This record gives sequence, structure tokens and C-alpha cells, in this order.
Amino acid sequence: MNTTKRKLIIAIDGHSSCGKSTVAKDLAKKIDYTYIDSGAMYRVITLFAMRHNLINGDQLDENKLAHLINDINITFSYNDELKRHETFMNGELVEDEIRSLDVSNNVSLIATIKFVREKMVTLQRKLSEAGAVIMDGRDIGTVVFPNADLKIFMTADVEVRAIRRFKELKEKGDDISLDAIRENVKKRDFIDESRDESPLRKADDAIVLNNSHMTKEEQLEWIVARMEEVQ
Ligand code: CDP
Repeated sequence: MNTTKRKLIIAIDGHSSCGKSTVAKDLAKKIDYTYIDSGAMYRVITLFAMRHNLINGDQLDENKLAHLINDINITFSYNDELKRHETFMNGELVEDEIRSLDVSNNVSLIATIKFVREKMVTLQRKLSEAGAVIMDGRDIGTVVFPNADLKIFMTADVEVRAIRRFKELKEKGDDISLDAIRENVKKRDFIDESRDESPLRKADDAIVLNNSHMTKEEQLEWIVARMEEVQ
């Protein structure tokens, strides 16, 4: 990319499983930006809480998590051999485990907690200090980077999203039903939109991208065009 161009901060928010991370990764690769997956951070905290038996149904032992949260170190790196972004929890590779339906079923509960969000937002801003960043999540354009150069709000029909996630998990060898995934997607949308702390909502200056009937290539082209408009 032309080095005289400004280094932008691009925020991509939206509903569960609508392909935010796919397009964010494709774009980062195309324009040589850093991709930061904020959802992976909430997923790591969730996995940690599950391993420490802090979650019981819809109940979370917040006091214990508050004591332990500073022991959790989250890092990312790109695996050249497997050509994928990987997430680590205290040095342990947890990329596949954090994408499991078990973690997905608990993550939105964890993401309602104020001290968890504060810690994640601090980390997200720190990782973005150098600029030239694309970050996806739920509150990136509203809370993390209210002054982002480009804000996209992504969505797609629930059925389309459930089928996409179903195929993704099947390919990884997970044996789960489409019904279970559809319920998870709907439940997470509901919790994310109705929580008190940084609820999922479109920032006033975000541009909507509904990719229900778009291919990966079409959605990438669409975002590149929006980027060129602000650059
Ligand atoms: O990729 P997918 O849409 O399944 O979810 P994700 O981006 O990995 O995020 C997992 C969950 O973390 C979401 O359902 C939200 O509850 C929470 N999250 C959040 O609250 N704020 C963010 N910035 C990112 C994720």
C-alpha cells in the first residue's frame, strides 16, 4: 500500500457470526494492516472462567474472576505454516478451544461484566497504538475507538449466519446441530444488545453492511471501496 496514505483505524462491529472476522482478516492481508480480534479476548476470559469452574448455568462467580483476571495474559500471533491468526492464554495455544460451542454459549455472559470489559478495552487500545489497525467486535466504533476513521456495522439474516457457523465448525470436526448453533447465535445477539455495559449498537456514523447475499470477495471489495472514500 502507498506509504504516503494515512494509517487508519477501522472498526467493524455487528451481530454474532456474520463474518466480521473473515472480512477483517481479508482486508488486513490486502492492505497490510494489523488485525485484532476483540471477541477472541472475551473468549479467552470465558475459557479461563470455565476451567476454574466459575460459571454455573447463568451464574458467574464474579468475585473470584475479579481476583484471578490479572493472572490472564492474552497474546496473538500469526502462524505462517497454517496461515492463521492464533490466540494464546498464558502462552498456551487456545485458538480452537475458544471457538467451541461451549465457550460460545458462555461468552456473552462474561462480556456483560464491567471490569472484564474495562480490562479488554485497555488491552485493545494498547495493541492499536501504532495505528494501521482493523479491529472487529461489538463496541469498537462506539466505545473502544469512537474516533475510528471508518466504522462498519455488519449484519446478515440469522439463518444465513447459523448455516455459515455450522459449516465452519463441521469442517473443524465438531459434531453439533444447526439448531444448537442457531439458538446460540440468537441468544448472543439478545444478550449483546440488551446488556447495560457497552451494548451492541450501530454507531451513528457507522455504515451498514448486510452480507446475507454477498460472497467473501464481494464484501471485501465493498469495504475496500468504503476505505478508499475516507483515505
Ligand atoms: O465471531 P463471533 O461473532 O461468533 O463472536 P466473537 O466476535 O468471537 O465474540 C464473542 C462474544 O464476545 C460476543 O458474542 C460478545 O458477547 C462478546 N464481545 C463483546 O462483547 N465485545 C467485543 N468487542 C467483542 C466480543
